[in-house]
Amino acid sequence: MYLTKEEENFLDGEEGEVMERLFRLLVRLGDIYGADKMIPVGSVQVAGVSYKSIGDPGTEFLEDMASNDAKVKVLTYLNPAGMDLENWEKIGFPKDFAKNQLRIMKAFKSMGIVITSTCTPYLAGNLPRFREHIAWSESSAVSFSNSVIGARTNREGGPSALAAAICGRTPNYGLHLWEKRQPTIKIKVDAELEFASDFGALGYFVGKQVKNKIPYFTGFTNANTDQLKALGAAMAASGAVALYHIEELTPEADLVEKEGLEEVNVSKKELDETYNKLNSGKDPDVVILGCPHASLREISQLSDLLKGKKLKKPVWICTSRVMKEAADRMGFTEIIEKAGGYIVADTCMVVSPIEQMGYKTTGINSGKAANYLPGFCKQDVVFANINKLIEAQL
Ligand code: F3S
Repeated sequence: MYLTKEEENFLDGEEGEVMERLFRLLVRLGDIYGADKMIPVGSVQVAGVSYKSIGDPGTEFLEDMASNDAKVKVLTYLNPAGMDLENWEKIGFPKDFAKNQLRIMKAFKSMGIVITSTCTPYLAGNLPRFREHIAWSESSAVSFSNSVIGARTNREGGPSALAAAICGRTPNYGLHLWEKRQPTIKIKVDAELEFASDFGALGYFVGKQVKNKIPYFTGFTNANTDQLKALGAAMAASGAVALYHIEELTPEADLVEKEGLEEVNVSKKELDETYNKLNSGKDPDVVILGCPHASLREISQLSDLLKGKKLKKPVWICTSRVMKEAADRMGFTEIIEKAGGYIVADTCMVVSPIEQMGYKTTGINSGKAANYLPGFCKQDVVFANINKLIEAQL
């Protein structure tokens, strides 16, 4: 791989031991995937933030980096942490867990990483531009930025994203290259898609079918960004889709080569079967929305449903701190809390310790959460659209 003089200096340890170690990791990765050079990245998003995911070894690794003066070179955001970083006590997160989670946040902050823990950084102040090279690791954010924005990132692991943040570079391979962004399968959709959960069911079904292929969708041209984030998140979870195109909708759809692709048809029948398959429970102990993290539009939708009502069971909507603050100002938080719900910032149902909090059955409208909750959080799942989930709690 071609390296500039400055990059050779990184390898020679002239910028310190941490830089040498992390740059070596990037070079190794580039060698494995046949990268020709390193490219500068505009921003980074680091996963592996919750104490539930990284435990003591990960926490100690981050503290070691921080104490060795590691500092990021580019705008870097974090994936959701394991708890609401401000209201954890009020919501009922365990104290021991909180202590360790706060150690992790301190280490990240001292590296210069923005303590905005969200899987929708593009809604919270980290918005890449079309064709910008970035190094992000959260799979739904990778899918959104590649597909809906047209930025370019591989699905980074936690360590490679951290290395990219500290070195300001990533190896040039995979989805950074135009020829690797071409669709490899066509998905013809013949079904009405209304709710985010419909897009989640579609994404879950397609992800299972196509694994890590690049789908080119036809049959729907009117999806908003909330629906697209639900679609991409589910495809990345049930499969490993990091990029998709939609005819007349996503920015690279007109530019890519789509002749002669294998075709898969998806109708209402497949979506109904997916809804059935993802439902493993009845009567949720808690309903948790906001996977991926909710936009202000989604929070306002929940606030409309809860205005003047009382909930039988708790309802959370997970979001970034930035969206939560906007919701506070708009009065949505007050309406939701009066009904008995919470806007939970900085975390989500998968990376927070909900099983330790006594929940066994969770109501969700996300195909991605439906994929992970049974295994990762030992939950039975009620998967439905937001209206059905909330009506059942009034
Ligand atoms: Fe985000 Fe957690 Fe879902 S990280 S995409 S809300 S599983």
